[in-house]
Amino acid sequence: MTKARKLGVVTPVLYGIDTVVHTLTFEFIEGRAVKDILLEFWSNGIVEERLDDMAAQIGIAIAKLHDGGLVHGDLTTSNMIVKQGTNQLVLIDFGLSFTSTLPEDKAVDLYVLERALLSMHSSCGDVMEKILAAYRKASKQWSAISLLR
Ligand SMILES: Nc1ncnc2c1ncn2[C@@H]1O[C@H](COP(=O)(O)OP(=O)(O)OP(=O)(O)O)[C@@H](O)[C@H]1O
Ligand SMILES: [Mg+2]
Repeated sequence: MTKARKLGVVTPVLYGIDTVVHTLTFEFIEGRAVKDILLEFWSNGIVEERLDDMAAQIGIAIAKLHDGGLVHGDLTTSNMIVKQGTNQLVLIDFGLSFTSTLPEDKAVDLYVLERALLSMHSSCGDVMEKILAAYRKASKQWSAISLLR
């Protein structure tokens, strides 16, 4: 998470590590998971402007991680929180993340997200296309990864 923050991706601040009881204490992010926002769009109708902003932030955040050699490993809509008030995207749950420069690893990261979106939120239109459009613009390494999709 510290590496992600250094790459310009917003993550909760780590407040402390307790090596005796084996706990990590993080900043609590007030907001809603992208999953819940998309489910609300499904029941109450899509707010196109909010969807576009959210998808762009997701694409840019993943591009920053990947260009910096970090693979999230669990890119689902539960692991993304939109902060109340600012609508800033915050990525959480880095338990499966690892460093890699392989385009294959990055392509798999995107594929996991695509599957998650298809299974949970297919009624919200092609969110993945919007995310990829932002990723494509932001990532310097897009062409190597696109060949694998
Ligand atoms: N810093 C935080 N601020 C606010 N809510 C959080 C924060 N961290 C986690 N949550 C909430 O708790 C849920 C579970 O956290 P997290 O995704 O880290 O673990 P998990 O997916 O349940 O477990 P794991 O992936 O380790 O098996 C998140 O989906 C989110 O709703
Ligand atoms: Mg999680």
